[in-house]
Amino acid sequence: MSAPGRKAAITGHPVAHSRSPLIHGYWLKQLGIEGEYGRVDVAPETADAYYRAFSTSGLIGANVTVPHKETAAKACDWLDSAAKAMGAANTLWVDDRGRICGANTDGLGFLGNLDQLAPGWDQSAGTALVIGAGGAARAIVWALLSRKFTSVHIINRTAEKAQKIADEFGTGTFAHSWDELGTLLGKTDLLVNSTSLGMTGNPPLEIDLTNLRGDALVNDIVYAPLETDLLKAAAKRGNPVVDGIGMLLHQAVPGFERWFGVRPEVTDELRTLVLKDLGVTT
Ligand code: ATR
Repeated sequence: MSAPGRKAAITGHPVAHSRSPLIHGYWLKQLGIEGEYGRVDVAPETADAYYRAFSTSGLIGANVTVPHKETAAKACDWLDSAAKAMGAANTLWVDDRGRICGANTDGLGFLGNLDQLAPGWDQSAGTALVIGAGGAARAIVWALLSRKFTSVHIINRTAEKAQKIADEFGTGTFAHSWDELGTLLGKTDLLVNSTSLGMTGNPPLEIDLTNLRGDALVNDIVYAPLETDLLKAAAKRGNPVVDGIGMLLHQAVPGFERWFGVRPEVTDELRTLVLKDLGVTT
């Protein structure tokens, strides 16, 4: 397949650490597509102008990383429902009418990971408990509501942030304080850590899982280490667990498909490649 001149990039500040070029470069090579995927460091003071003029950037599309996801969303002429709900876009393209379009695929990345590694996980679509209330939590709450979870509970160190997400998403979302964790675990079908706790260099996530039902699925979005203390403790007591690297890989799928016309696959080879580059042992 040939697509000369098709260039996409990760945009943000900084972008040097981003693994997106590795992921998209792997798919371009694997699929034999003549495209490119680079890095564009967008200084904060130029971000608004950069995204507003995105259709003349020479790129057919882009990913957007911190701190520009909100700025990019504001510059778009069209947003998908996830980007609208989150007020943040991580995937851009220019449509055939020249409009700058934005999507937020973080929630889809979360769903793609669980769909791949725990097929049928959303069949009962009951009660979920999300720890954390940052950008990732917002994407995960959106994703769970899109799969018809009836109750999505949110617990966060800063209670007001959990309350803000619950207020924004409305029906079916509930904010709680940490001291309610034990009670909530007893009625949870899915437990997700969306905080950075447990990541190498950060404090651990300290949770007593005693009340967690034996069949509850546990997912950690932290992927360094791949098997976090939370996943270790959950697996030890027999709960099914899913690690976090797949969310990073799956969030990249919709952009690649949009820009290069082929839906790429998240393979074990890609998983290993990215983990190796991150220095994560498996
Ligand atoms: P992201 O976009 O990856 O979600 P974020 O918006 O910075 O990143 O959110 C980080 C999350 O980890 C937040 O829920 C944060 O809690 P606060 O809202 O109270 O800041 C949580 N977090 C980070 N460090 C923490 C710590 N030491 N203890 C408890 N929660 C922590």
